[in-house]
Amino acid sequence: MNILIAGNGGREHALATGIINSESFRSSNSRLYCTSGSAGLDLISKPVNIKPSDIQGITSFAESEKIDFVVVGPELPLSLGLADVLRDAGIKVFGPGKLAAEIESSKIFAKELMNDAGIPTAKFRSFNSEKFKEAFEYINEIKFPSVIKADGLAAGKGVIIVNSKSEAENAINSFTKEKIFGEAGAGFVIESYLQGYEVSLFAVTDGENYLLLPPSQDHKRIGEGDTGKNTGGMGAYAPLLTEQIDGELTKKIENKIIKPVLREMKNRDRKYTGCLYCGLMIAEENGGKEPYVIEFNCRFGDPETQAVLPLIKSDFLDLLLASVENRIEKYKLEFYDKYSCCVILSSGGYPDGYETGKTITGLDNVSDDCFVFHSGTKFNEDKQVITTGGRVLGVTALSEISHKDAIGKCYENVKLINFENCYFRRDIGYRVLK
Ligand code: AMP
Ligand code: GLY
Repeated sequence: MNILIAGNGGREHALATGIINSESFRSSNSRLYCTSGSAGLDLISKPVNIKPSDIQGITSFAESEKIDFVVVGPELPLSLGLADVLRDAGIKVFGPGKLAAEIESSKIFAKELMNDAGIPTAKFRSFNSEKFKEAFEYINEIKFPSVIKADGLAAGKGVIIVNSKSEAENAINSFTKEKIFGEAGAGFVIESYLQGYEVSLFAVTDGENYLLLPPSQDHKRIGEGDTGKNTGGMGAYAPLLTEQIDGELTKKIENKIIKPVLREMKNRDRKYTGCLYCGLMIAEENGGKEPYVIEFNCRFGDPETQAVLPLIKSDFLDLLLASVENRIEKYKLEFYDKYSCCVILSSGGYPDGYETGKTITGLDNVSDDCFVFHSGTKFNEDKQVITTGGRVLGVTALSEISHKDAIGKCYENVKLINFENCYFRRDIGYRVLK
């Protein structure tokens, strides 16, 4: 089987690693290609010099190279309709079509869908570009803090938490007049601020049935203790403790969120297949825990994927194919009884300006049972690995003993890697260490 991964970050390196370690891949005459690339991906797949969002380029390549299966990593190509174009060309694709991907690419669509299906989420009002003036009236009625979110894709940055009416006015002006998020912010949602703790949960689905992967927790802020600016994610651990998510809460999430959303999408002729990322806030209410949806994403999360996929024991390639071939109900999903922790190494200055082109040393010193996923690297002319992005590497360690042990192992290995101005958070997983 010829497989192509569209995307080139840490998530895609974790997906590629899961695929090449699958028994079904190793025992067959399969080949893996990836839209270029990173130094890590180039070592395990054949690089293809096409951008992940170049729909025509990817489709032509897939047709000419006889690609059987395309796995789409990021949201942008999905929101542009890559999966539909490939399916029309007779190629199997992991990931939803354009209409289904709107669950991530339009917050207004997602919020209204949740409202209609009775899915718990923060109370909200949506405003399109014509009706944005009504937002200035609405902010007289709301409590603070409140949250203002750009309708469209904004690389995880389209969310502003406002603490007063004047901050809300500034935020609305920055969306509508200054257009800080371009067209993505022409429409927006104002929603109430949810209290609680966040959980990331992936449901792999064929549109009818789904399988849950171990729940995880991201660390979105740049600074220790969850301070400073939002980033793409600075680290993650999995699975969560039963105090954080137990069987009863999981059932609530399935019954109140996952089943209704898949049903509603199907009813609207937007059958959802692929990975549904549920970004949840867990609130303590009347002595129990209640899940609320912060957001849905139409793909695997990053960096959570780098912590979650190494816990999967069963054949990962076959799981992806089961989603495409309507076989999720029969797929037997098994996990290792292990704990995992992923720490992201970033370029100093990220998420603002940073320098690239720094030589990375120590990659060969990392212990064999650790994974190093590449987010922003490449080989230079001297075959040295250099930095190319804000997030550079994700180091994932596993332990059979405890979270504490996985976290400790992870930092032992992080210390072995170096590049100029390398920055990482030293407190990934602090909530499970308390
Ligand atoms: P989103 O892009 O919607 O996931 O939002 C980014 C981050 O903003 C989330 O991971 C939360 O930490 C925070 N956030 C978003 N919406 C809310 C909300 N309604 N209440 C509290 N925090 C939120
Ligand atoms: N880790 C957050 C995301 O993938 O959207």
